[in-house]
Amino acid sequence: MITISKDHLQDLSEGRKMLINEVVKEFKEENGQIVFPSFEKVKETAEFLNIPLASFFDEENSDLESGVKVLRDGEGFSRTSLKNGNKYYTYNHLVTTNTEPSLMPLRVELHVKDEDHVTLNGGHGSKEMVYITKGVVRMHWEHNKEQKSIDLNKGDSVYIKPGVPHSFISAQDDSELLAFNY
Ligand SMILES: [Fe+2]
Repeated sequence: MITISKDHLQDLSEGRKMLINEVVKEFKEENGQIVFPSFEKVKETAEFLNIPLASFFDEENSDLESGVKVLRDGEGFSRTSLKNGNKYYTYNHLVTTNTEPSLMPLRVELHVKDEDHVTLNGGHGSKEMVYITKGVVRMHWEHNKEQKSIDLNKGDSVYIKPGVPHSFISAQDDSELLAFNY
């Protein structure tokens, strides 16, 4: 669920010579906020108005304070994924902001050490930049149906283009990386 101030949506609609109920159909209103059921719906509305998505989340509606947002260590959302019954990654969310809806920064703990348990993802729509913070990370990926792998040490970084299937396992000790999807 994403909420955007009704006044702000009204301004944006008026900018397009439209009424708010012509722009946002079947909306729910709570305390002067329009409640969107999903991020997709916000995107559709921006496309309908033909305005940049970011204009929905300007300074007034943003979750920034004095131009910044702080997320304290350990306060972010965290989830451990399973692949074929094995604990694979623990995703620890770093700071996110509604002013950059497509930016997803993560600290990822790698649980798999065994080559036999490598499971590539299907590749994703976002671009990804990875930085190794701990241990030795073995990255597997696929390009033109060819399987590839490389060991990455602390301080190494990688860029992965959208659609490239990939996986990270721990080649030595407890390994961890930072991943920025955008
Ligand atoms: Fe990824």
